[in-house]
Amino acid sequence: MFKDLIFVDGTSKYVQIADHITKLIEDGMLIEGTKLPSSRELSSILGVGRNTIVEAYGILEEKEFVETLKGKGTFVLGNKIKMKSNWHIDWNTKTNRYAEIAEQLDIVKSEDKWKHGMISFKSISPPGELFDMEEFKRAFLNRISIEEHKILNYGYAIGYRPFLQYLNSYMIEKGACSKNKDIIVTNGFTEGLDMLLSAFTKPGDYILCENPTHNTALKIMKTHELNIIGVDMMEDGLDIDDLEKKIKDRNIKFAYLIPSYHNPTGVVMSISKRNKAYNILRENNIPIIEDGFNEELIYESSHAIPLTTIDGENNGVIYLGSYSKILFPGLRIGWIYGDKRAIEILESVKRCRNIHTSFLDQGILYEFLKSGAFEKYIKKVRRVYKEKYEFTKECIEKNIKEAEIWGEGGLHMFLKIKGIDTRQLLRVCYEKGVIFMPGDVFYINREENSTLRLGFTRLSYEEIEKGIKIIKEALETIKKQQNCGKM
Ligand SMILES: Cc1ncc(COP(=O)(O)O)c(C=O)c1O
Repeated sequence: MFKDLIFVDGTSKYVQIADHITKLIEDGMLIEGTKLPSSRELSSILGVGRNTIVEAYGILEEKEFVETLKGKGTFVLGNKIKMKSNWHIDWNTKTNRYAEIAEQLDIVKSEDKWKHGMISFKSISPPGELFDMEEFKRAFLNRISIEEHKILNYGYAIGYRPFLQYLNSYMIEKGACSKNKDIIVTNGFTEGLDMLLSAFTKPGDYILCENPTHNTALKIMKTHELNIIGVDMMEDGLDIDDLEKKIKDRNIKFAYLIPSYHNPTGVVMSISKRNKAYNILRENNIPIIEDGFNEELIYESSHAIPLTTIDGENNGVIYLGSYSKILFPGLRIGWIYGDKRAIEILESVKRCRNIHTSFLDQGILYEFLKSGAFEKYIKKVRRVYKEKYEFTKECIEKNIKEAEIWGEGGLHMFLKIKGIDTRQLLRVCYEKGVIFMPGDVFYINREENSTLRLGFTRLSYEEIEKGIKIIKEALETIKKQQNCGKM
């Protein structure tokens, strides 16, 4: 910057230096508060005597471009920096279809926000107070002292090797057959699904899913411009007749299913339905994306087997796992388990996107998992969630008798209230300090408006009771309004 100055004949050097620095300040190349080089340093850079620099700085000081603080140096003042030219880009005109859909469907932006003091049934995150922080700190220190600098360097796209080995054994424990299967670590389920759809689908392809389903999954399918075919849900999982009807005469690329503690309904698909659904999809050559995000939370110790286990040595099921709901959402760690070749393709997709998921995070998580702290934590949260689930259910049964309660547990339950627009219910509840997730956001075309999802795990018993009573009052208000409308 200073070296750019080329002296010309006919003007004193100190004037040329002052002019050069003036221009740098006016152009914003030297910002307010920047310390200028000392006279000794600048004289050596420019090959002039120190006095020349002292005189140049004197001019700048007189014009109030700089100030000299005794013993500290010479600093640029802000008052002479010219405003940048008026350059304004309208970023709305630059977006592509992906961004338009992503923003349109971004419920974090569009839904009513929680305000301090409100009772929120919206969240289905684990309550942080249950995290074993001491063990987590130990895991961090242990892993970093074992790996030292290596864990802070670049690693493999598929993941941190000890963690991959852990996950492989974990999948075998679930009964999965590891022959010709592989694993890749992802930034949560969300990245896993996005990677899969990026690698194996193109706009216009058909994808089948439960309707309702996980809102983020719907958003990802829509950003990939897929044709989404919804299959109705029953209280024990997919409506098999509807599944058969919907796949008929259609070339469906994938089926995305959440067999356990389905979001939003909380339904656990029965074993017989798992088998039926699997066989129908296999016979029709439709690969399954199985979302196993919540299955560890099953309140009973034994769990219905995942579809990937039913798949055995076949390769038609790709299983997506995540530590977001069963442990730490903020670590953003999940995995994809499936056919070796499919994972090999996904490895290149991952490298293309973000090279790999943080090795430090994977390393800490691995250390935490192998310490046995995870099993202890799961045992604890299952008990806590079960008690809260039963309490919430009791409160609803007592106060909102007309509600049909769906779901067997996990982190949430789903209500259907015939004849009630739950958006309207939410508006009334919001005024009274309660929020929940209106069910329409989980339907492919937002076509159903009489359902809602209640997350209960982060609320105290008092809040649950108070919140349900407020929903009851809001319902009464709406019914009165409906009755008045009829008169
Ligand atoms: C059905 C389903 N799958 C997976 C996840 C976890 O997603 P992620 O791992 O990206 O946090 C969630 C979170 O709400 C979910 O509801």
